[in-house]
Amino acid sequence: MTRVAILISGGGSNMLALLRDMAEDRAAVPVLVASNDPAAPGLDRAAALGVPTAAVDHRAFGGDRAAFEAALLTPLLAARPDILCLAGFMRVLTPVFVDRFRGRMLNIHPSLLPLYPGLHTHARALVAGDAEAGCTVHEVTPVLDSGPVLGQARVPVLPGDSEATLGARVLAMEHRLYPAVLRRFVRGDRTPVCLP
Ligand code: GRF
Repeated sequence: MTRVAILISGGGSNMLALLRDMAEDRAAVPVLVASNDPAAPGLDRAAALGVPTAAVDHRAFGGDRAAFEAALLTPLLAARPDILCLAGFMRVLTPVFVDRFRGRMLNIHPSLLPLYPGLHTHARALVAGDAEAGCTVHEVTPVLDSGPVLGQARVPVLPGDSEATLGARVLAMEHRLYPAVLRRFVRGDRTPVCLP
């Protein structure tokens, strides 16, 4: 069975969606949920579902990304993951770390890439007056938010939308898109998922 590790930084709603779908699809098994924040609520949510967890506080390493990643690799490699899913993981990873998981590391980003890489994606879509927004699952490469697209989901931007209302609409689609992409990826199928 394909072994999947998930990296989170916060609530882990995407992580939960992946766990639930893996339990149903049964083609992959979650072997670790790890976070750069020991207080990430997602860690308790994963533990409550019986998934091993680990936390490596990036603040203990100052700005030394390589040292943080070396510490993160200890529990990560011990779990022997085949695939690494970034799910609300808010740390930029060095090319050294990315290359270690090249071709088997996924990320979900709350915009229709290549539109709006980086932060504040919903605010930027609203300011631009976009008619639609959405999310993208992509393979992680050393350049932030720019790897091959494995899936996209589109939602309408509605009159009166705020960052919060648009973000909630996109998040609901993230929870559908990421599991659908992982199901294909586990089977070696790189055909992009397009939702709705
Ligand atoms: C989501 O919008 C995701 O796209 C972004 O982080 C946000 C929170 O994700 N990467 P989660 O609820 O912690 O999964």
